[in-house]
Amino acid sequence: MNNHPIGIFDSGIGGLSIWKEIHSLMPYEKTIYLADSINAPYGQKTKQEIVELCIKNTEFLISKGCKIIVVACNTATTNAITYLRDNYSVPFIGIEPAIKPAALQTKTKAIGVLATKGTLSSELFHSTSEMYAEDIHIVEQIGAGLVELIESGNLLSKELDELLESYMQPMLANNIDYLVLGCTHYPLLIPKLKNILPKDVKIIDSGEAVARQTLKVLKAKNLTANDSIEMLNDNYLFYNNKEVEIMKSILDNKYQISFLKF
Ligand code: SIN
Repeated sequence: MNNHPIGIFDSGIGGLSIWKEIHSLMPYEKTIYLADSINAPYGQKTKQEIVELCIKNTEFLISKGCKIIVVACNTATTNAITYLRDNYSVPFIGIEPAIKPAALQTKTKAIGVLATKGTLSSELFHSTSEMYAEDIHIVEQIGAGLVELIESGNLLSKELDELLESYMQPMLANNIDYLVLGCTHYPLLIPKLKNILPKDVKIIDSGEAVARQTLKVLKAKNLTANDSIEMLNDNYLFYNNKEVEIMKSILDNKYQISFLKF
């Protein structure tokens, strides 16, 4: 048993979609969430820059006593998780686009993947696609501009609607029946995507699978917390190094978000 917190980091607020799944599966686990919003988006940075930012985030979470670290960012996972696992003894959980379930279930043999440039161009993405989707047409689409609009709280802007419409067109032209969200920011766009896509196109993201995998690793390493302790909202800590208001509203003003000069 281990009552230290689970550390979670992302290039910004997108990883809160992962935090919500972890919290819902394991409400008895303390968490520390770090949003490196000042450096978002990671998707347009070089691999070296992404690795350096991930080192900084990891060292912050380790300094806070985290027992496991969830890299709640597809771009960070695909570019830096190997380095992190090789250089730190704490276990890491990463996020990969859910290509496998989409490839196994597609009937049209065409799936769409919406992700950042950094994820779509990574070796890990290519090897996963080759492994699970050999005979399937993957329509890849870089979600340029989406993370910036989400991070600035512009979820209702016309610009966002227009970008999404244009990104979904090639997917629909190729008759996809699954859309894989390959960036943890994109689940915030699901209501909008549902308005654009026909009902028979299913949208999948990796949140639940990541939470289950985190629990599996905690159990395997004997690191789960005591589930009979009464939990208060201040057992869940949130840090942002740019601004805290958008995060507050995503979390329904239930938690304290601290500004971190970082
Ligand atoms: C980004 O920072 O560019 C997006 C994060 C992600 O890939 O999940």
